[in-house]
Amino acid sequence: MKIANFGVEEWLNVWENDAIYDIAGSSIASFTLEEIIGIDGTDPKEFYEKMLNFKMNYGWIEGSPEFKQEVSKLYKNMPPENILQTNGATGANLLAIYSLVEPGDHVIAMHPSYQQLFDIPRSLGAEVTLWEIYEENDWMPDIAELKSIIRPNTKMICLNNANNPTGTVLDDTMLKEIVAIASEVGAYILVDEVYKPLDPTVHVSSIVDLYDKGIATNSLSKTFSVPGVRVGWTASNREVADLFRKYRDYTMICAGVIDDYIAVHTLKNKEAVLKRNREIVFENLAIVKEWVENEPRVSLVFPKAVSTSFIKLDIPIDVEEFCIDLLKTKGVLLVPGNRFDIPKHARLGYCAHTETLKKGLAELSAYLRKFDE
Ligand SMILES: Cc1ncc(COP(=O)(O)O)c(C=O)c1O
Repeated sequence: MKIANFGVEEWLNVWENDAIYDIAGSSIASFTLEEIIGIDGTDPKEFYEKMLNFKMNYGWIEGSPEFKQEVSKLYKNMPPENILQTNGATGANLLAIYSLVEPGDHVIAMHPSYQQLFDIPRSLGAEVTLWEIYEENDWMPDIAELKSIIRPNTKMICLNNANNPTGTVLDDTMLKEIVAIASEVGAYILVDEVYKPLDPTVHVSSIVDLYDKGIATNSLSKTFSVPGVRVGWTASNREVADLFRKYRDYTMICAGVIDDYIAVHTLKNKEAVLKRNREIVFENLAIVKEWVENEPRVSLVFPKAVSTSFIKLDIPIDVEEFCIDLLKTKGVLLVPGNRFDIPKHARLGYCAHTETLKKGLAELSAYLRKFDE
């Protein structure tokens, strides 16, 4: 099985630790362990002491009953037995695609997007048609185009809602249109839902609340700010969950006793987590808007309170060369757009701690001035 190099992850693996101002990320200002434990007033010492008595066996193989219960509450009608814990959303996407996609299948994937969603199907021998989104259309996909690329043998449509890197949000009207098209050929719709829009006026349903052959993947890494627990999940109908069970035994066994425990605590406190994150994202989005207005070399289709955005850079050099030099001279980390197959752009994650964002943007502007000379 051959697979392409993972552009974004490879970039972050090499450069992430050199950043002084990491404004490339897409997890909303990750919590310290103490912060997440204390979010509901729990005394961290009591929490640790409880953990000392944990038996370090495999724990609950599919995720603890409490975990499944908490996750099922995120959906309208998703029984806990249809939820399977995974190693992050990456594990969830892999599980879903690996279980369902076979050589010769046709798969449609939104693009640009998270690379797993098109390169894992390709690696399994599927023929992948990219459903392109364009900046000229505010990074929104075109339903007419989907109609023209769907085939009788389309097995799966892979989406990322909201989308990394563009922040595109597919609302319910759009999702229902996609469901109507997929259901005509019986295609699954896999939606990676790690980026929940934090604007309370923007309601986006999970795909599993709209379509029986919908598969939702998600995790605690982005909107919930604890990527360090490495916990994600799949939610699907029962038949698909049973298929996943079979493949899952070969790929992970379980996520770990301590990770499950912290995941449950985070999910039980989701309202407090989301409130904190809403404040960060809204404050940061206002800062980014003002910065873009005053930065002649940058333009942006503004995302709707999603943690990632995709700035367009007016620069005379290759974007990766630009990002490396920016990091080396100013300590500012972005993800160059070529890592998403879109040069001249860069991913700006405006979900870092506000001070980091402010200083990072100031340094980025200072660096951009060298092209004015
Ligand atoms: C769309 C998308 N899915 C999944 C992931 C990885 O999620 P996790 O940390 O839960 O494996 C990322 C990380 O950037 C992502 O952008």
